[in-house]
Amino acid sequence: MTGVAGFIGSNLLETLLRLDQRVVGLDNFATGHRHNFDLVRALVTPEQWSRFTFIEGDIRKLDDCRSACAGADYVLHQAALGSVPRSLEDPITTNESNIDGFLNMLVAARDAQVKRFVYAASSSTYGDHPDLPKIEDRIGNPLSPYAVTKLVNELYARVFARSYGFKTIGLRYFNIFGPRQDPNGAYAAVVPKWTAAMIKGEPVWINGDGETSRDFCYIANAVQANLLAATAETPEALDQVYNVAVGERTTLNELFENIRELLLPRHPHLAEFKPNYRDFRQGDVRHSLADVGKARSLLSYEPSHRIHEGLDESIAWYVANA
Ligand SMILES: NC(=O)c1ccc[n+]([C@@H]2O[C@H](COP(=O)([O-])OP(=O)(O)OC[C@H]3O[C@@H](n4cnc5c(N)ncnc54)[C@H](O)[C@@H]3O)[C@@H](O)[C@H]2O)c1
Repeated sequence: MTGVAGFIGSNLLETLLRLDQRVVGLDNFATGHRHNFDLVRALVTPEQWSRFTFIEGDIRKLDDCRSACAGADYVLHQAALGSVPRSLEDPITTNESNIDGFLNMLVAARDAQVKRFVYAASSSTYGDHPDLPKIEDRIGNPLSPYAVTKLVNELYARVFARSYGFKTIGLRYFNIFGPRQDPNGAYAAVVPKWTAAMIKGEPVWINGDGETSRDFCYIANAVQANLLAATAETPEALDQVYNVAVGERTTLNELFENIRELLLPRHPHLAEFKPNYRDFRQGDVRHSLADVGKARSLLSYEPSHRIHEGLDESIAWYVANA
């Protein structure tokens, strides 16, 4: 697995070790953290932990990818530089990790003859397509360098399937959130960033009028999708991309209220707390909502957590780990 020190990667690591799997993880700590390993280690048995091998390395180096893929049955490729604004500020570095790195992983995994290559795609691939809900085969033009990189991933995966009979599945994640998602830094995602700010009594900024909406998806659903994608056997399920979401839309204003209400019992200073509004952010889509019918029918995906259940667990985690 790549990106194992990150948010989604460390949650996959936790689940796989709990299932007594052997995991080889690759990460260069660009945005991931070593302390995520300490947190996972505390959640599994010493025997389960002993099945984890970590390689500190970079997907931009083919040899590192080959080391990570050697002897693997399944690849879960999560490493990439996330964030639309990061990619607008530094498209070259995003391109190197997300496209060059992706191609290195494809080549290494193909040569290692792995059974399946599951990779993190993105809802950003829908770009400016106006339809809601989003259906996998109806995409628009990318709105950011990040979105370009995730679209190129899908194109490469399809070409590797066609040219080499390589078995891939792409998971178009929609705003995944949950424990261990990093609240710090300029490019932090909205749920951990706002939660941390509210706990500390710092201002919360909403880009735009707050009526921008997203299909927020708890990490347990994304983990489930990865396991199903890795083990799916029906030929129609392979060489495909799938939306990974809940299929429900929440505005930023609603999200703010939900987080505030969950924190209120422990943090009474939030009783009258209000967000601040500023300009819309470049490259952001206005509304995002997934149709998860394809994942349901071909992968038997069934989200275990809707947004409220996911927020309950996430906020409890951030409160305990603040
Ligand atoms: N979190 C979301 O809502 C979301 C939505 C759509 C897509 N994704 C995709 O899911 C994947 C995981 O995202 P995340 O939210 O866990 O982010 P994250 O930043 O927590 O994890 C990414 C991990 O990849 C590692 N990494 C980055 N560049 C690397 C490189 N060149 N070599 C080795 N390791 C490298 C980072 O150090 C980090 O540990 C990414 O591909 C991201 O684009 C995430």
